[in-house]
Amino acid sequence: MALLPILRYPDPRLYKKARPVLEFDQTLARLVADMLDTMYAADGIGLAAIQVDVALRIVVVDLSKERSDPKTFINPVLVELRGVREHEEGCLSVPGIYDKVTRADGITLRAQHLDGSSFTLETDGLLATCLQHEIDHLDGKVFVDYLSALKQSRIKTKLRKRARDTF
Ligand code: NI
Repeated sequence: MALLPILRYPDPRLYKKARPVLEFDQTLARLVADMLDTMYAADGIGLAAIQVDVALRIVVVDLSKERSDPKTFINPVLVELRGVREHEEGCLSVPGIYDKVTRADGITLRAQHLDGSSFTLETDGLLATCLQHEIDHLDGKVFVDYLSALKQSRIKTKLRKRARDTF
């Protein structure tokens, strides 16, 4: 088990586009285990590999209160979007900032398990919101990018100031 450092917005590495995972091996399994440990330690509900500076298309999610329902999505692709849902989002890379983002309510997604086998998931509500947020990370997009330019610049100033005060 290892905790990985989480990149903080507006770190330019968060804007990289992640590459597909091609090898389903022990290295991948270890990375996913470390991502889950990191997400739980930070009390998050989702984490994309790009947030721990690994530019591969990997997402982990756990929406359960008991933190006992880890889900792993390798190479996730949204194949269908349905309806509209507005939700107040946060992000482990943007600590302490929450704001409303409008996304699809329902999604159909295709992805691979750790062993490389493919699966399809149809879901809605919070899990669908969370997965769209995480898949955005894989394409170099942070939820803050959906907010107004004014809000974005305020958030950047706040987080830069906080980073200066902390280190
Ligand atoms: Ni995030």
